[in-house]
Order: sequence, then C-alpha cells, then structure tokens
Amino acid sequence: MAARRIDEDVPAAVRGVLEELLDERLRECAALDATFGVDLAERVADFALNGGKRLRAQFLWWGLRACGGGSGASTADTALRLAAGLELIQTCALVHDDVMDDSPVRRGRPALHVALGARHGGGGPFGRAAAVLAGDLALSWADDVAAEAWDAAVVTGDVRARVRSLWRAMRTEMVAGQYLDLHGQVTGSRAMSAAIRTATLKSALYSVERPLALGAALAGADDRTNGALCSAGRCAGIAFQLRDDLLGIFGDPRTTGKPSGEDVRDGKPTYLTALARARAEVSGDRAAAALLDSSLGNPALSEEGLERVREVLVETGARDLVEAKIQRLVAVAHRHLASVPLLPQAEGRLRELLGAVAAVRVPPSVHAARAGRGGQQNAGRGARAGEGPAGSAFREETTV
Ligand code: IPE
Ligand code: MG
Ligand code: MG
Repeated sequence: MAARRIDEDVPAAVRGVLEELLDERLRECAALDATFGVDLAERVADFALNGGKRLRAQFLWWGLRACGGGSGASTADTALRLAAGLELIQTCALVHDDVMDDSPVRRGRPALHVALGARHGGGGPFGRAAAVLAGDLALSWADDVAAEAWDAAVVTGDVRARVRSLWRAMRTEMVAGQYLDLHGQVTGSRAMSAAIRTATLKSALYSVERPLALGAALAGADDRTNGALCSAGRCAGIAFQLRDDLLGIFGDPRTTGKPSGEDVRDGKPTYLTALARARAEVSGDRAAAALLDSSLGNPALSEEGLERVREVLVETGARDLVEAKIQRLVAVAHRHLASVPLLPQAEGRLRELLGAVAAVRVPPSVHAARAGRGGQQNAGRGARAGEGPAGSAFREETTV
C-alpha cells in the first residue's frame, strides 16, 4: 500500500493487514480442529481486530515516517506487518494480564477468560487456563508475522538485525515488567523507584519506546535521531502508565472500559499509591498511612473504603503531583522530538500521539516546541539505541 494512503488512516491500514493475516490463521486452525478454531482461535482474532487504539502500530508508523522512511511500498509493507505483530503481542499481553489481575472486564466487554469460562458453564479454572492458551496463540502469531516481515524486507543486514533485536528485547521487557508488577503486589512494595521501573518495563518500553525505535530502525535513522525518539518514547510511555494508574481509580469505567479500584484492591505497586504512602509518612499523617496500609491489597475493600482511599490520594497531594508529573514528562518528550531534524508533518503526528497516550492536550503547532528548545541540553543525553531501562533518560527525567 502507498505510504500516503497509510498516512491518512494508520489504524485502518493495520486492520487490513491483520484481517488478511488472521483470515489465513483461522482457516488453518479450523482445518486443524473445529472446536479449537471456534472456541479459541476465533476469539483471539476477534479480540485483536475489535477495540484498541492501535497505539503501538501508530508509533511504529510515525516513527518511520518522521525519520524519512516508508515512501517505498516494500518498507511500508514491512512496517505494517510489524505493526500487526505489535497488535498481536498486545492481544497476548492483555489476555494474560486480565488473568493475572483477575479482571472481569476489558474494553467494556467480558475479559477473554470470563467469556471462555461462560462458554463452558462459568466458574472453575477452565476459563483462565484456556485464556493462557489464547494468549500463547496470539504471541505465536505475532512472532510468525514479525519473522515473515523481516525475512521478506528489502533492507540491509544491519537494519534487519536491529529490528530483530528490538523485537526480542521488547517481548522480554514486557514479561519482565509484568513479573515485577506481580512481585511488587505479593511483596507489598511501596517503593516509588520500583513503581517507575515496573511502569517503564511493562508499559513505556513496550508500548511507546520500542515501537518508535522499530520505525526509526526501519528508516535507517542515525544514532542521534534514534536516541531522541527513544527518549521521547520513554518519557511519554511512563506518562501513559501514570495516566492509566490515575484512571484506574479516578476514571469512569464506562469510558475506561475497565473496573475502577482494582489496583488498590489487588495491592498493585503503582507510583500513585507509593507516592501517597510516602507523603503520608513524611507529613506525619498517621491516619492516612494506616488507611492506605489497611486498604492496599484488601480484596474485600468496600466501595466506601475505596472512596476513602481516593480522598487520601487527593489530600496527600499525590493525585495532583502525578498529574503534574504526567504533564512534565510529555513536555520533555516533546523537547526530545524537537532536538533532532524530523519530517515536519510526521513530527506533528508524533507530538499529538505522545500527548494523546497520556491524555495531555498538545498545543497545535509543532513550531511552538521548536521555539522553546530548552530540552536540547537534556535531549542530547537521552537514551541511546538499545540502552537498558536504567538508562540516563530514565534517571534524569522521571524524578518528581
Ligand atoms: C497492563 O498493565 C500492561 C500489559 C498488559 C503489558 P495493567 O494491568 O496496569 O493495565 P490494565 O489497567 O489492566 O489495562
Ligand atoms: Mg496488570
Ligand atoms: Mg491489568
């Protein structure tokens, strides 16, 4: 497909590739076994196709375009196939996440393990066990499409190796982040640094930074440009998770499509609750600290109890501080973008996207960011290609 057509509607272009690919996979699965095809494969395909904002796919595409790539049909095709792979990894991540977090609702519909459970009488371990397989299936499809994409790509050996190594890193980082999330939950961690590290691995890298880096790699971007995009992605990606944490307790389930207060009842190691706990301690507010200690990780917490936690999050100033941090992270992300020459139209789209993931309104003009290039000093010290999650961008730009 021609790049200009993809530019007009990236989610639709990725959906087209996904439809074609899933059609083939579904035929294979149905031929293998009709029950498996209908019960599992079709549900996985339905999940991947319906719902979701195709954020990762958009970051990959606009990262590619901002670095001047994608105008040839072959690179555009490779990018769309990798983007479809990202969407399938996201399917795996969310299906497994809902099992791990025991979340009944996703995208306003029953979570996949709930739907699978209901298909066979509800209750019991069947739905959860089958959802593990559903996630595995999505991950296999993701890896297959990605491998096909880079095998067929008309690119240099260096570019192919870079894309492959980014893909590998991204998968493992996401799993590591998800594990740290569970680990923090079971150990009752209240450390802010651990919360940011978990958010970086489970969200920032996999949802924003790595997709951008995949686009930049396909475009053959130089180290400096790649570094600026990675730093921008890291900052906005952390802001994305911080927003998710705020919405998880203050958002309306009718708009988020997810239940409210789960993180609190599950005792998730979020930055928001860690910050509230630390501020209660420092200010000597023993009642607020005790309330948090007895509520976080209490699965039986009542609606009133949850409301009191919300009050503490507001009264300790944690909610406002997290909001301010989100705004600051997005501003720094924009400064990183402005620190390198990018194609203006694509840069504008990236700016919008980096704000949108964190639900931050972005000033309309690209030139506004270019005018205030205060970020340049910082931007130069941003994450380098392949830099690990404890890199300089992580340390310097995420401190409250
Ligand atoms: C989801 O984390 C992260 C991944 C699926 C990799 P959360 O558990 O915080 O996200 P939601 O709120 O359920 O979507
Ligand atoms: Mg989770
Ligand atoms: Mg979850």
